[in-house]
Amino acid sequence: MQLAVDREQVRRVVDGWRQSGSTIAFVPTMGNLHKGHLALISTAQSEADRVVASIYVNPTQFGEGEDYANYPRTFDDDSRSLESCGCDLLFAPGHTTVYPLGFENAIRLVAPHDLASILEGRSRPGHFDGVVSVVARLFHLVRPDLAVFGEKDFQQLLLIRRLVDDLSLPVRIVSVPTVRETSGLAMSSRNNYLDSEQRGAAASLSAVLADAASRVGRQRGNWIQVEQWAMDELSKLGFRVDYVAVRTAAELARPDVADAELRILAAAWFGDVRLIDNMKII
Ligand code: PAF
Repeated sequence: MQLAVDREQVRRVVDGWRQSGSTIAFVPTMGNLHKGHLALISTAQSEADRVVASIYVNPTQFGEGEDYANYPRTFDDDSRSLESCGCDLLFAPGHTTVYPLGFENAIRLVAPHDLASILEGRSRPGHFDGVVSVVARLFHLVRPDLAVFGEKDFQQLLLIRRLVDDLSLPVRIVSVPTVRETSGLAMSSRNNYLDSEQRGAAASLSAVLADAASRVGRQRGNWIQVEQWAMDELSKLGFRVDYVAVRTAAELARPDVADAELRILAAAWFGDVRLIDNMKII
């Protein structure tokens, strides 16, 4: 696996591949990799000839009180995992590559209010502005043919699709279903903050969501009762619930009975750890 740390290096490698006719897939990450990330790499490998993964902990997507400074940085382990799963290039830029004029002088994108101010955006104001800004920057640096994102961060995925459509970026977005532990707990870097007993208990988030999804599936139109039922169940199980919401899969709007494609999404604190999860309603 090759390593690039600045724009010249990443472009030299990617341009070389492109000149020899290869297609390029890109997997942006903030490191602290787990099996969910490796599933993104695997999908990238099946979609393109060459795979670039980036590790960059982006300060502009962390709000006040969110722990940017303590975000786990596990570069050596991450690098080994990427190498062993056959990633071709690790792009690990510094701040001066991603924000060459500095954060204060940086041009920032504003994520659209309808999609960015609800659910995660409501609890984490400004978060998605930071996400779309950095993803646009990384796309310009790497210039991939396609980029792969997980459905675990479903709202982020929709916003990135919006970014690409709205700015006519020549990048195809490919999504990958959430990878789960055998308990059902969605893989996440934040699970590392849970001990093994807490992990077992935290798995009930996915169990309650799956139950709620099948309740909506059986009887469309009952989502408000189901949302409330799921929030009550989670509270009884020791979670501090932020939201449980049944939304349209395309826009995360409140659904009508006629809407066919629905998703249930949730965020809840388990102790000090904020977990998110979502599922398709079938
Ligand atoms: O999902 C993430 O890890 C981050 O939000 C991303 C897309 C790498 C942007 O920093």
